[in-house]
Amino acid sequence: MSTKPSAKASAVLPRFDLDGQCALVTGAGANGGIGHAIALGLARAGARVAIADVDADGLAVTAAELAAIGPPPLAQIADIADAAQIEALFAAVDRDCGRLDLLVNVPFAFPSRVRPHELELEHWERMLAVNLTGYFLCCQAALRRMLVAGCGSIINIGSNAGESALGRGALPYSCTKAAVHQLTRELAVEYGGAGIRVNAILPAQTLTPGLRAHLETPRFRDHVLPRILAGLPQGRLLDPEDYVGPAIFLASEAARAVNGVLLPVDGGNLAMNAGGSHVWPAATE
Ligand SMILES: NC(=O)c1ccc[n+]([C@@H]2O[C@H](COP(=O)([O-])OP(=O)(O)OC[C@H]3O[C@@H](n4cnc5c(N)ncnc54)[C@H](O)[C@@H]3O)[C@@H](O)[C@H]2O)c1
Repeated sequence: MSTKPSAKASAVLPRFDLDGQCALVTGAGANGGIGHAIALGLARAGARVAIADVDADGLAVTAAELAAIGPPPLAQIADIADAAQIEALFAAVDRDCGRLDLLVNVPFAFPSRVRPHELELEHWERMLAVNLTGYFLCCQAALRRMLVAGCGSIINIGSNAGESALGRGALPYSCTKAAVHQLTRELAVEYGGAGIRVNAILPAQTLTPGLRAHLETPRFRDHVLPRILAGLPQGRLLDPEDYVGPAIFLASEAARAVNGVLLPVDGGNLAMNAGGSHVWPAATE
């Protein structure tokens, strides 16, 4: 089959083209993670992609892969829980690209699963610092630049856990993700008139290195995984590649009127009622 776009596709595809855009993806250092896949996907769609992460080794792998697609990227070690490191990161982006068209916020902290009544304040505060304050500070730094330019787009990575409860010690994670969803809507309303769009992608359980590690545990594989799969109408875990198309769309001119949207990319997880099922024949027949 030819990979050359048809004449009809050629007329539409330029609206998805990110050629000439400068993007920053935070949390792009986990090889096989969602940020990693999105960073490479944006680069393949034409964007110049800067990346940041706390993981220096992972960052180097993503940087090498990006350099095989386009120009060698800015790859900055930065902890988004640290305001000074965020400032240094955005100053480096200014020097590297001279502008910022797109910010994608990906990192998260979920150090361990603790039942809410036993949760230490320090644990709660660490999760807020990365998952919420870090996202806010990165949005703020991006907005200051986008306001000067009069345009720009932000994509926050939220979660199905921000829209419904997971249990299993997910309380602080879920609360921060719900707050990221509201951060997205507030910023979209606040800055829509300034030509800046702010949207969120809401993943469901995805086969990333973190989840792969859980699959090694018999208790997870035998008891938790079947429950997760029962809630995914497509009958499979999500794949990091599943987020690439939606991210390119949200970043592109094709989504110019899409603002303040919380886009589930979850195989139908949030659409499904707890009593729903994708199992046939129905037991009532
Ligand atoms: N994987 C899933 O099943 C799933 C489900 C729903 C939502 N999500 C969301 O998707 C996003 C990506 O998840 P993933 O599983 O691909 O993650 P991942 O672990 O593969 O990647 C996250 C990256 O963020 C980096 N990071 C962590 N703390 C950081 C910090 N303070 N500063 C900078 N970088 C930091 C990590 O080093 C890692 O490279 C997260 O926001 C997560 O909440 C994931």
